[in-house]
Amino acid sequence: MNVAILGCGGMGRLHAQMATNCGLRISYCADAVRKAAKGLADDFGAKAVVDPMKAIEAKDTDIVVITTPTPSHETFVSAAAAAGKHIFCEKPFGRSSEECKRAIRAAEKAGVTLFVGHVVRYFQEFELMRERIQKGSIGKTGWVKLFRGGIFPGAPGSWFRDYKQSGGVTFDCMIHDLDWVRYVFGEPERIFCQTIMRTEPTQLDYSQVTMRMKSGVIATIINTWAAPSGFKVKAEICGSKGMIQFDSTETPLGAEPRQTGSGPTMFVPMSPVAVSPYQLEWQDFIATIGSGHTPRVTPLDALRAVEMAEAALKSNSSKEPVKF
Ligand SMILES: NC(=O)c1ccc[n+]([C@@H]2O[C@H](COP(=O)([O-])OP(=O)(O)OC[C@H]3O[C@@H](n4cnc5c(N)ncnc54)[C@H](O)[C@@H]3O)[C@@H](O)[C@H]2O)c1
Repeated sequence: MNVAILGCGGMGRLHAQMATNCGLRISYCADAVRKAAKGLADDFGAKAVVDPMKAIEAKDTDIVVITTPTPSHETFVSAAAAAGKHIFCEKPFGRSSEECKRAIRAAEKAGVTLFVGHVVRYFQEFELMRERIQKGSIGKTGWVKLFRGGIFPGAPGSWFRDYKQSGGVTFDCMIHDLDWVRYVFGEPERIFCQTIMRTEPTQLDYSQVTMRMKSGVIATIINTWAAPSGFKVKAEICGSKGMIQFDSTETPLGAEPRQTGSGPTMFVPMSPVAVSPYQLEWQDFIATIGSGHTPRVTPLDALRAVEMAEAALKSNSSKEPVKF
């Protein structure tokens, strides 16, 4: 199958590689910035175009990958569906729940596969935590604390730095954790959110959510785009029989011996996971096309995640908890 990448920035490049690893061919790379389109197209032997519609409507496009800024997702999902193409859309699914609902309707009407990349569901460490919780290893879960943080993404002037477009760390980044908490602990009951979304004198964004799930589980989620020490993720999940802790900074690296030809054997640190979680989500997406397979994340899950992130931002504005 042939794949068209729309948006040739960070995620466009990553997904071009994942699709190629799955044996697919990158046929088009589309980006509003010609240099970005050409750079990726040259690396993958594809055609570069500035107008995404050309890539969507091309006869030899079977799959459309949407890795443009979030506010453009719905337009491209709807256009790809109308052209009868299968769709891989990055998270957040849309900038509003209304956009997501229209995108779902368009894909259903066209009968195409629509997949939204909530990749945290495919991270091996998160999956292991979910399995242990569901096996009852920590008894009845009472409290979940998640942290995800890094530096502010994008250069000055980037869409990430425009809170209206990206929704800031609460909408763009915390949506991963909101989705995972719902995936593991069920539907939310109410959410309270406080943020610092500063633009001057330097831009930083810090967000704290407290969420009560219908099951009674309380989740505290902190996300920040103001962590100068770099990207890290932490989890602490407390139950009646024990606790699970995860800290990405303490994840052990594997070591692979390398022969240097002469002299001592070198040990080279390797990623602790054999298969990228982004590869796993691609495998799940491809298995869904033209089959009855239900992927680990459905468009409805992605819509619910957007609704939760919207509710968080609403609570931040109103300074009141928001009920679902
Ligand atoms: N799942 C993850 O781990 C993860 C990580 C980062 C970003 N994302 C999501 O992926 C999406 C893309 O993020 P990114 O980091 O690749 O952004 P980016 O800014 O690096 O790349 C976006 C690209 O889209 C192009 N573009 C913008 N508007 C366009 C349009 N209308 N038509 C064609 N091209 C257009 C830009 O020129 C740019 O090259 C966002 O929705 C973001 O939230 C997901």
